[in-house]
Amino acid sequence: MMECAGSNKNVPSRKQNRVDILKQFQSRFFATSRLVSFPWTVLENDLELSKSSDVILEILKQTCLHALCRKFPPSPRYRKCFISELIRRVESAGCEPLDELYDALAEVVAAQDVTEGYRTYLLPRGDGVSLLENVALISEGTTGLVTWEAALYLAEWALDHPQTFAGRKVLELGSGAGLTGVVVCHSCGPSSYIFSDCHQSVLQRLRDNLSINGLLNNKTKTTRTEVSVQELDWTDMTEERLKEFSVEVVIAADVVYDPDVVVVLVQFLSKILKCSRGRVPAEVLICSTVRNPHTYAGFKHSLSDAGIGHRVMSGAVNHVFEYNRESEIELVQLYACQ
Ligand SMILES: C[S@@+](CC[C@H](N)C(=O)[O-])C[C@H]1O[C@@H](n2cnc3c(N)ncnc32)[C@H](O)[C@@H]1O
Repeated sequence: MMECAGSNKNVPSRKQNRVDILKQFQSRFFATSRLVSFPWTVLENDLELSKSSDVILEILKQTCLHALCRKFPPSPRYRKCFISELIRRVESAGCEPLDELYDALAEVVAAQDVTEGYRTYLLPRGDGVSLLENVALISEGTTGLVTWEAALYLAEWALDHPQTFAGRKVLELGSGAGLTGVVVCHSCGPSSYIFSDCHQSVLQRLRDNLSINGLLNNKTKTTRTEVSVQELDWTDMTEERLKEFSVEVVIAADVVYDPDVVVVLVQFLSKILKCSRGRVPAEVLICSTVRNPHTYAGFKHSLSDAGIGHRVMSGAVNHVFEYNRESEIELVQLYACQ
């Protein structure tokens, strides 16, 4: 569509609107965001104006029919809900039915229902982090087979503060599916990065996800960072082993979620800070979703009882990833009190 001379440059053109809709649908689809978070009203307006289902076909090409979806497909159940919603929108706008939608639906209906699927977290520069994750938030007795909001927040913070990691040795606690570490390794240039967790299924998934993202297999490795995956249980870690790591930065996302876990975590953090004494102290950053204020306040009390101080890293982060930002997320830096 031609822009009229003298048209308001601040009002997005219809073409720009279309590009924005497609981008938003694509990034939310690949991150398997909740369907309510998609810009349905903007889509309805577009359908209303154009009276054609062209935009739906374009959305389908950027999502279910995209090459990324062939390589790293979200779970069949998610794709089925997504396509069904598109069909509903086309029908209610009175646009002509689209064969491609029904073909895509038939394909996912025929697919076996599985407990896992890929999530791809797209970066503004166009690439992304694809991770195999379980559909259920808790499965196989662990919370570590999905990516939690605090991991995405911490990754965004890292993208804004690459100097915290550049050229340094980093240890991540409770890495889960691996999102934060993959982003840090690809974008912040640490000299080494230890992913760690205590759960066997999580450790195996972590290795698989790191390979997918070019971080483990030497032949396909895409970064100079020395990457390893270590079994590390906070209940069972000696100061000697910690000293061997000689890390300079320690990070963790969403590890403060249960009062029992908090107790062992704080004991472990205390050991980390003790090991740093006599040399440059490790920078310790813990990022938490404050689901239960009582549990989180308990964490802070335990820190203080253990002689650990904390400062809240306030300040907004640039929004990069698609996730639910309704919950409060707090990032704290820990230090040993004298
Ligand atoms: C809520 S998940 C967070 C995973 C990931 N950091 C994220 O935010 O997406 C908590 C993680 O902490 C790990 N974890 C829990 N207790 C642990 C312990 N005692 N030692 C090591 N890891 C532990 C779990 O296995 C799980 O992967």
